Amino acid sequence: ANAQLWKQRRLLITAGPTYEDIDPVRFIGNRSSGKMGYAIAEAAACAGAEVTLISGPVSLPTPFGVERIDVRSAEQMFAEVQKYYAAADCFISAAAVADFRVEQMAEQKLKKQNDVDSMSLNLVKNPDIVAWVTAQQDKPFVVGFAAETENVESYARDKLSRKKLDMICANQVGQGLGFERDDNRLTVISASETLALPQSSKSELSSKLLKIIGKALS
Ligand code: C5P
Repeated sequence: ANAQLWKQRRLLITAGPTYEDIDPVRFIGNRSSGKMGYAIAEAAACAGAEVTLISGPVSLPTPFGVERIDVRSAEQMFAEVQKYYAAADCFISAAAVADFRVEQMAEQKLKKQNDVDSMSLNLVKNPDIVAWVTAQQDKPFVVGFAAETENVESYARDKLSRKKLDMICANQVGQGLGFERDDNRLTVISASETLALPQSSKSELSSKLLKIIGKALS
């Protein structure tokens, strides 16, 4: 049934972390492995979709049949999403985009000064990529992710409305859950329904999620 649902459909998906450079040897990153986004991209390609995957720095192979574009920072990811969103029927924002970047990356390696005990970095806000997409007139069906360490469902509902998403997938991270793992548990929330997808492999969850989105698209 999945094979029918995604035939002729174009999926744009972001995955992985972003790296925000401090200087030529240091960056601010996060613990996203990219596994959930890559699993969705793979399952969608298997289900017949044309998939473009915009990926932050991860150590994962490109799923078969998927067009992959590598980026490093949130600003680079944003630029690629702006190129591709209009052609997509569905945009899934699974990337863990850094909320802030270093205002001015140092051209040379920052040196440790022996008589200084602290230093500060000036951070500025990154663009909210998924919120930008939902603000466009020609926006596709937009699915966000919410990785939280507490109050998972209520934070997710808040993001659904604030970012004007069509659907959000909430998951608990920390305490051995979510990040860097092969399995996960998701709560899928839209204006009309809340579905609990019990703990299973990210590949199993991806098929279930694509069925839910596929129905919403048709
Ligand atoms: O980081 P946050 O929990 O707000 O992420 C919620 C959703 O927003 C995710 O789908 C994430 O990919 C997206 N996001 C984004 N651009 C940002 C921050 C988050 O697209 N700068």
